[in-house]
Amino acid sequence: MADSKIINNAARVLKLVQAGTPADQALRESLTQDRHYTAPAERRGISRAVFTYYRWLRWLDPKDSPQKQLEAALVLQERFNKDPAAIKAEALSARAVPEWLKAEMDPIPVDWLRQLQREPALWIRAKQGQAVSLAAKLSHSRPASLPQLPALNPQLSALSYSGLTDLYRTKEFQAGEFEIQDLASQLVSLACAPQPGETWWDACAGEGGKTMHLSDLMQGKGMLWASDRSVRRLAKLKDRAARAQVFNYRTAVWEGGEKLPTKTKFDGVLVDAPCSGVGTWQRNPHARWTTQPKDVSELALVQTSLLNHIAPSLKPGGRLVYSVCTLTRAETTAVADAFTAAHPEFETVSAQTLWPHELNANGMFIAVWRRK
Ligand SMILES: C[S@@+](CC[C@H](N)C(=O)[O-])C[C@H]1O[C@@H](n2cnc3c(N)ncnc32)[C@H](O)[C@@H]1O
Repeated sequence: MADSKIINNAARVLKLVQAGTPADQALRESLTQDRHYTAPAERRGISRAVFTYYRWLRWLDPKDSPQKQLEAALVLQERFNKDPAAIKAEALSARAVPEWLKAEMDPIPVDWLRQLQREPALWIRAKQGQAVSLAAKLSHSRPASLPQLPALNPQLSALSYSGLTDLYRTKEFQAGEFEIQDLASQLVSLACAPQPGETWWDACAGEGGKTMHLSDLMQGKGMLWASDRSVRRLAKLKDRAARAQVFNYRTAVWEGGEKLPTKTKFDGVLVDAPCSGVGTWQRNPHARWTTQPKDVSELALVQTSLLNHIAPSLKPGGRLVYSVCTLTRAETTAVADAFTAAHPEFETVSAQTLWPHELNANGMFIAVWRRK
C-alpha cells in the first residue's frame, strides 16, 4: 500500500492535469513549489504514482475517487512487473493506446504495447571513450550492450542508470562528464556520423541534446550550427554547452522557413524534427491520451517542409539525417518516401525504426540521405 501523503499529493497533481496542464509540466511545477517540504523519495513517489495512473488509465474505474484509482494503478503496475505476460494481447491493444493509432501503425507490435506498460529506463551519455570510467564512479550505472546494433557499438557511450541519486547534483554532471539522454537519441547522433573538422547544422537543436553529442563525436573540431525557433531553448543550449565545455558551435534563430539562417554549405544536416512523440509514450503516458490524429497530420507537413527547405544547404556528398521520436506512418516512412521521390539529387543511405521493446528506450525513426 502506497503512503497516503504520496497518494494525496499525486491526486492534487491529477487535478492540475484535469484542468489542462500536461502531466510532466504539472509534476514539475508542483514538485518545484513543494521542494522545501517534500523529501526526494516522496517526490519520486508522487511522479511515479501520477505516471502509473496514466499508464493504466483504461484499466481504472473512473467512478472511484482519484486516490482509489491511483492506488489501483500502483497495484496493477506491481502485478505487471512480476508477470508481464499476465496481461493478454487483446487487453493491451484495447487499452494501452488510443483507438486512432491503429490507422497509423498497422500492425501494432504486441511487444511494443507490453513495453509501454513497463516503467522506463534512464539513460545517460558519457563523453566519448569515458563510459567505462564513468560507470566506475557512478554506482548503479552500466554500459549499454546492444548486440542488435553492432555497427554502432564502437562509439556508443551510453550507460543505463538504476540508482536513486539526483544525477543533476552529482559532481560528475556539474563537471560536464555526462548528459541525461535517451539511448534512442544517442543513436541519432551516431547515425549522423560527423567527422572531426566537418561543418554540420543541427536545424531543430532545441536545448542541444544532440548538438552536444555531435560536437563530442567531432572531438570539438569543425563547426556546428545550432538553430531552433525557440530563443528560450537556445539559451538553455548555451548553458549546457558551457557545462559540457563545447565551444565549436554557433546558434541562430530559425523558424523553419525558406530563408535559411546561413548561406553555408554543410557536410551534414540533422533535422530532429518536431513530432507527435508516440515513441515517448512509455516515459510520458499522459501524452497517449492527449495526442490527436490532427497533430500527426499537421506535424507531418511541418517535417516535410523543413526537409524541403534544408535540402539545398548540403554540399555534394553531404549527409542529410531526419529523425523523429514517433512511430506513426505519416511522420516516418511517408515523409521519408515523399522526400526521396521529390529529391532525385539525394540517394537514400538508410531508413530504420528503433523500437522501444528492442532497446528499452524511446521509439525513433531515422532516415539518412546523401546528396549526389
Ligand atoms: C524534437 S525537438 C528537438 C530536440 C533536440 N534536437 C534535442 O536533441 O534536444 C524539436 C525542436 O524543433 C523546434 N521546432 C518546432 N517547429 C520548428 C520549426 N518550424 N522550425 C524550426 N524549429 C522548429 C522546437 O522548438 C523543438 O525544439
